[in-house]
Amino acid sequence: MPRHSLVTGANRGLGLEFVRQLLARGERVVATARHPGKASALNQLTGEYPGRLHVLPLDVANAKSRDELARELPLVLGEDRLGLLVNNAGVLHSGERWGHLQDGILEDSLRTNAIGPLLLVQALVPLLEDGATVANISTMMSSLATRGEFRSPSYSISKAAQNMATVQLSFALQPRGIKVVALCPGWVQTDMGGGSAPVTPSQSVTGLLRVLDGLTPADSGRFIDWQGASMAW
Ligand SMILES: NC(=O)c1ccc[n+]([C@@H]2O[C@H](COP(=O)([O-])OP(=O)(O)OC[C@H]3O[C@@H](n4cnc5c(N)ncnc54)[C@H](OP(=O)(O)O)[C@@H]3O)[C@@H](O)[C@H]2O)c1
Repeated sequence: MPRHSLVTGANRGLGLEFVRQLLARGERVVATARHPGKASALNQLTGEYPGRLHVLPLDVANAKSRDELARELPLVLGEDRLGLLVNNAGVLHSGERWGHLQDGILEDSLRTNAIGPLLLVQALVPLLEDGATVANISTMMSSLATRGEFRSPSYSISKAAQNMATVQLSFALQPRGIKVVALCPGWVQTDMGGGSAPVTPSQSVTGLLRVLDGLTPADSGRFIDWQGASMAW
């Protein structure tokens, strides 16, 4: 049977491209979106790949929504388990200025980019197969070693926290052979990345899937970019 993958934030951008490419190579996909009824691109794909794509609601920042997904997922998977979980959903609140930082923006960023993905893995871990992969989509803007300016601090701080969650999860899930990695997709043409970004979603996701395909257990806990290069934490 083809592998079952789950992608969060799959209604647009990189998440949608993950779903497209996973389906095109024959896999079965659970795609989550905050508002499935409005996820027109995903719903069109459901028609193109009958029985292989299921769209379920998830607001990753919301505990009740995560619990509901964990309850509904077994109905979709049946006896099967997830071989790949892509924690792709993320938020970047742009326009933050020093002296005007707001706790609401910091909190929403941390909930969406760090706390939500970590607790989602915890909630779904019984539904992951031994040896599965968890891919946390990170960013170069999370790197403490290379950050060189004051910009989008809530995003950078929350993604740096997500990086530590990746490392913590890699230890927690080691006994089951589950690999957990932080992946940098590059600067990509999406709503978040904007039109000047040099990389297309198709190029980025092709590269990220190549990286994921090549992972060994020794790679768990690493930070890797879409071209396979190690990133500095
Ligand atoms: N594009 C880049 O250059 C770039 C670079 C580095 C890292 N990344 C990372 O790549 C991932 C995908 O980004 P993207 O460029 O595709 O961004 P995007 O086009 O803005 O899409 C973001 C996705 O995340 C979803 N999302 C936001 N908050 C959510 C929540 N609370 N619960 C569930 N879903 C939520 C959005 O859903 P709605 O449609 O409902 O808002 C949307 O599906 C993110 O983690 C981002 O940080 C992107």
